[in-house]
Amino acid sequence: MHVLNMGQFPNRDSIEKVLRDCQTRVPIPRLMPASKRGSVHVLAFEPSTRTRISFQTAARNLGLEVESVAGAEATSLVKKEPLSDALLTHAIYGADIICVRTPYEGGPLFAAEWLQQVPFLKKIGQKTTIMNMGDGTNEHPTQCFLDLLTIQERLGRLDDFTIGIVGDLKYGRTSHSLVRALSHFNNIRFALISPDEARMPQQFLHGLNIIYQGDDMRQLNQCDVIYATRPQLERIKDQIERQRLEWFLRITMEVLSRLKPDVHILHPRPSVHEIDPAIKLDPHFAADDQTYNGLKSRMYWILQALEDFTELTWEVPFAQPILDSQTSGADASEKRGKYFRPITGDEVGVVIDHLPVTVKRGVLDMLAYYGCLTDVVKTTTDPVNTSRLPEEYDGKKAVILLRNRVISDDVVAQICYAVPTASVGLFRGDGNRCKVTTCAVPPMVYFFKCPNSDCITNNDLNAKSRFYTRDNGNALSCRYCQTTFDRKRVIRFAA
Ligand code: NCD
Repeated sequence: MHVLNMGQFPNRDSIEKVLRDCQTRVPIPRLMPASKRGSVHVLAFEPSTRTRISFQTAARNLGLEVESVAGAEATSLVKKEPLSDALLTHAIYGADIICVRTPYEGGPLFAAEWLQQVPFLKKIGQKTTIMNMGDGTNEHPTQCFLDLLTIQERLGRLDDFTIGIVGDLKYGRTSHSLVRALSHFNNIRFALISPDEARMPQQFLHGLNIIYQGDDMRQLNQCDVIYATRPQLERIKDQIERQRLEWFLRITMEVLSRLKPDVHILHPRPSVHEIDPAIKLDPHFAADDQTYNGLKSRMYWILQALEDFTELTWEVPFAQPILDSQTSGADASEKRGKYFRPITGDEVGVVIDHLPVTVKRGVLDMLAYYGCLTDVVKTTTDPVNTSRLPEEYDGKKAVILLRNRVISDDVVAQICYAVPTASVGLFRGDGNRCKVTTCAVPPMVYFFKCPNSDCITNNDLNAKSRFYTRDNGNALSCRYCQTTFDRKRVIRFAA
């Protein structure tokens, strides 16, 4: 049981089960026996007050041992140790649960996958659950459950209300997890209020009934619930953007007087200028309820991890690509010796032809990643008639030749996806050549670099990128940071 992001809760039933169990199954802290049942390591590699303390308190309430690290400065992360190696160390020392906060998006997910592969942990029979305490600007799932508990307690329901989510919706991870969860409930109207530069990223808007998106604060007046968030100034590099966001939101008694009389104002905290001190003492303000519910949410997840190691299924199933190919007799003989000795029909090998010169390096990198590059590789750059080819060919094409090598359909699919104008000739030593020029969009793409510099794949040397293809292959969505990019933005090969 790993708690990594809200994609693990794909419908309202899975969310409501957690909320029910938080209210009924989490024991009252005072009644817990103090037996040692396991250990929880709480690692806050970004500042944290409530999440860190609530996980520690939750673990102690349940009679568990607690190890705690506050700040990356005291760890080898400052020496650029990969996060996954750091968490592995905690697992080897017996952490049953690692709660981790990291500035890198997708860090907990990647580390969880990494730990599952480490043979040494299998050898010593160590199973370690990873809990995401906030991964960069991406998500904060255990916060989401305490937010939902609070809305449910205050409003008496999780359907049919208007929620104004206001503040920094771009970098504020708590709002991302919250909208993902609420998208599964009925008749919720979302007013997303932020300056233009702090809008909620596209990938979180799926399935929402958005009644307003913009910077008009008066939209709050129609809301039953307000979820106010802090400007994440530490994540914003642009000075003007910072200034605009810093003072964008300020909820005062005067603002409150214009809101619905039974409105509930939530805030994940820490709150800075956006909540006036007088509001903090007003019964409409629900942040203390949220803080208290943090204990329920975290005790619940610790119990879950101890009792049940079954994995939540949320993988996109991997389907084999369908190749659209034609088989023909080898026609390379007439070119024999012209540029370099091509592969002939009775040999085994691969000819990747019609590559724009700029992508040659990237395709070689990809082949190396798949372990397909062995000793005998030849590449050439030929002048070519480009009348039928896009302009990036610039009068030249590159050819890659792999001798004595077969490549799998999956690798072929990835090449065709990345470079639709390329053709791949597969020689299998049977006198025939199978030539592939197009193929179905592969469901998963592995070899590109994620354009998000804060993605774990760009910050952990053990990590490799993986993307799900979306929108018929026109978009790619990073498995780790969850960001969706235009295909062309990702497919940028080194020249
Ligand atoms: C939030 C966080 O760290 O994402 N705090 C929290 O865990 N309650 C919100 C924030 O930092 O603004």
